[in-house]
Amino acid sequence: MMQITPAGPLQLAVFASGRGSNFDALYQAIERGDLNANIKVLVSDKENAPALDKARKRNIKAIYLNPRSYINRDEYENDLLKLLKEQQVTVVVLAGYMRLVGPVLLEHFRHRIVNIHPALLPSFPGLQAQQQAVDYGVKYSGCTVHIVDAGMDTGPILMQAVVPVLPDDSGDTLAQRILVEEHKIYWRSLQLLAEGRVYIDGRKAVIKN
Ligand code: GAR
Repeated sequence: MMQITPAGPLQLAVFASGRGSNFDALYQAIERGDLNANIKVLVSDKENAPALDKARKRNIKAIYLNPRSYINRDEYENDLLKLLKEQQVTVVVLAGYMRLVGPVLLEHFRHRIVNIHPALLPSFPGLQAQQQAVDYGVKYSGCTVHIVDAGMDTGPILMQAVVPVLPDDSGDTLAQRILVEEHKIYWRSLQLLAEGRVYIDGRKAVIKN
């Protein structure tokens, strides 16, 4: 079994395409002393992402990189990788980053890219997971923190939280209640990494102790 990161403070890059509430929840967990980490940089692929402003307000380096100004994903990710190396990032945190990660970043940060998804994977991967759950009629959904691999929302699972689906739920009302749980399990999952307790065993993430 392979340990993902040795015990010690995580040096994080947070990637966000939108609102940035998960970024903010991580920031607050660090401030409270619940998560042993530093956020070195927030990266967005969207120029107007509120997450960029949230980072600037917290005095965290906020970088917008436009994927469309590169000839292909590898070139875009090579620039990202350069930035992450400059900032001595050890773990990449996807927090509402609406883009598949390619081989350049996956190879350099093998098992060290983490994502949060608003459903109980492997159910409802991809976009609008909360609406998918409502439309399917499941009675429980939730959220999943997982290690990123080459698939879409397929990597080893670190933590999940269950949220009941109520009879009158819309995608939006369910999303709001799932988000409350996201804000709890993301920092907890990352803290397991900071404690050096997470190992990869085939397709499983194993948590020691
Ligand atoms: C969160 O609900 C997150 O789980 C979801 O986007 C939202 C981002 O919110 N991510 C995905 O759907 C990834 N496929 P935030 O910007 O307020 O953190």
